[in-house]
Amino acid sequence: AKIEKYAAELVIPPVMPPDRRGGTDRYTIAVRQFRQRLLPPGSPATTVWGYGSPRHPETFHYPAHTIEAQTDRPVEVRWVNQLVDARGRHLPHLLPVDPTLHWANPPGGASGRDSRPSFTSTPGPYTGPVPIVTHLHGGLNDEENDGYPEAWYLPAARDIPRGHASAGSFYEEFRRKSEAGNGTRWGRGDAVFRYGNRGRPAALWFHDHCLGITRLNIYAGLAGFYLLRGGPADLGRDVLPGPAPRPGDPPGTRYYEIPIVIQDRSFNTDGSLAYPASRAAFDGFKGPYAPASDISPIWNPEFFADTMLANGRTWPVLPVEPRRYRFRLLNGCNGRTLILKIVTDPLARRPASAALTPWQIGGDAGFLPAPVRLDRLLIAPAERADVIVDFTGLPAGTELYLINEGPDTVFKGGTDFAPANPRTTGQVMKFAVRPLTAPDRSTPPEQLTLPAFQPLGAARRTRRLSLSEADSARLKGVGPRAAFLGTLDRAGRPVPLTWDAPVTEDPVAGTTEIWEIHNTTPDAHPIHIHEVHFQVVDRQRTGRRARAPEAWERGPKDTVLALPNEITRVKARFDRAGRFVWHCHLLEHEDNEMMRPYLIRAAR
Ligand code: C2O
Ligand code: CU
Repeated sequence: AKIEKYAAELVIPPVMPPDRRGGTDRYTIAVRQFRQRLLPPGSPATTVWGYGSPRHPETFHYPAHTIEAQTDRPVEVRWVNQLVDARGRHLPHLLPVDPTLHWANPPGGASGRDSRPSFTSTPGPYTGPVPIVTHLHGGLNDEENDGYPEAWYLPAARDIPRGHASAGSFYEEFRRKSEAGNGTRWGRGDAVFRYGNRGRPAALWFHDHCLGITRLNIYAGLAGFYLLRGGPADLGRDVLPGPAPRPGDPPGTRYYEIPIVIQDRSFNTDGSLAYPASRAAFDGFKGPYAPASDISPIWNPEFFADTMLANGRTWPVLPVEPRRYRFRLLNGCNGRTLILKIVTDPLARRPASAALTPWQIGGDAGFLPAPVRLDRLLIAPAERADVIVDFTGLPAGTELYLINEGPDTVFKGGTDFAPANPRTTGQVMKFAVRPLTAPDRSTPPEQLTLPAFQPLGAARRTRRLSLSEADSARLKGVGPRAAFLGTLDRAGRPVPLTWDAPVTEDPVAGTTEIWEIHNTTPDAHPIHIHEVHFQVVDRQRTGRRARAPEAWERGPKDTVLALPNEITRVKARFDRAGRFVWHCHLLEHEDNEMMRPYLIRAAR
């Protein structure tokens, strides 16, 4: 069935109300299953997962309501797993779990010693309870507050037997550290994370990070914005277009700063979310699924859905005034790299010429050194773009479209690829110009002075890391061919390493390092390092000269696109001792071994 476009307005996620203020903003935020309209009016509603505050039930929404935080003012969140039904029994996963991946795999049996899922009648699909653990992406936090993929926990469900191991291997250790450190108490089915909000003002986001099912938990709806504001590195409130939503705003308030998460999703005809339940669709896979085989039956190397959603609605429309808007864009897709443009005709031949050229003023982790004018915005999964779009002077009735010229496959860099289907995933949303209601007092972007950017000092050492492809003959337990992180041997050949291989990256706290990412695969991988904001140093093709990062990559970042057959260099200062991860943010890759633990060692 054809899904009508531009039939519903963009939802602007309201602000998540804190439970309590004081020196700290305190929240209780639960994960629940509920129904929400993602498709146009008249279509069936969709069962999703989302975050919300149990004290304010109207806040349960996908994407989550936004956490507004101030730099250096702590936020404490009790993250509760409430994936239970009305009778308190665990809910199964909304989407097909692949039990052959290295995933959380809650152990069965009262002893907790049996590693087979006891909730499953083998060899069927996994129908047990769903583990979650929340990560604040871009946050600079201690290990026990970071959302380590093996610090997951199950809901406090009535039907989970006493003595059942209901949390991942790092949960207990982090619980003890956290309770000793900040005096909070974790309960059954929750974890209390404290965020110091160090760092510059930026658009962070929170999302699920559970081992081996992150792609499914995020696809089901577990993501939201976390906007960090204030401090000397911010700009005055009337310099940039605003306001943004604030707690307690009267209904009908007009917003000129709008966070927008773009995601692709597929739907079944009953409105439910569709995610491939078998590998049969994957063209590299010929044989039938044999339970004894080491070939994963479900995992797809990447997944590209066929509709585009902005803030949880397919192809919405945003009424705008002829003035400047600040959009905080997030690519929340599982695998899709977006190339966004604003045009007058969404069906024009690609590459289409831009009708409006946005100014990008910030990236993942803060402002750029100076605004850059771009006719297209390239945003890889998990990256953010802080942009100003100037609709000034456009007559009421004008209609503009945000289109996507990125590919419907994994991005491989360059320009030689077929852009997304212009009738479906090649469109994202529409802007409908209305009359101006109030004068625009924001500074024109070309006159903006952005807060000073401090380059990091010299690095103490350089690490050589690799992205490579290998097959299951070499590394058991994964698909026929998958991508891995790893190191390089002395001859410069990649050494692929799995999630459970010993740690190889162990910077000392307080030191600055350069990480050289050698991508030997044909694909571009967005690489995210937890606990740091890094600077992109350069990129280099074999046998060529290194080239400077793109204009929009010159601010602090936490995710960088490593292009195929290139070395991408990033420089970071590692601040706090602890166990963290670095990984590819193509979620299917991350769930299938393209993630590694790393340790920041305490300085002696
Ligand atoms: Cu956005 Cu480790 O994740
Ligand atoms: Cu990848």
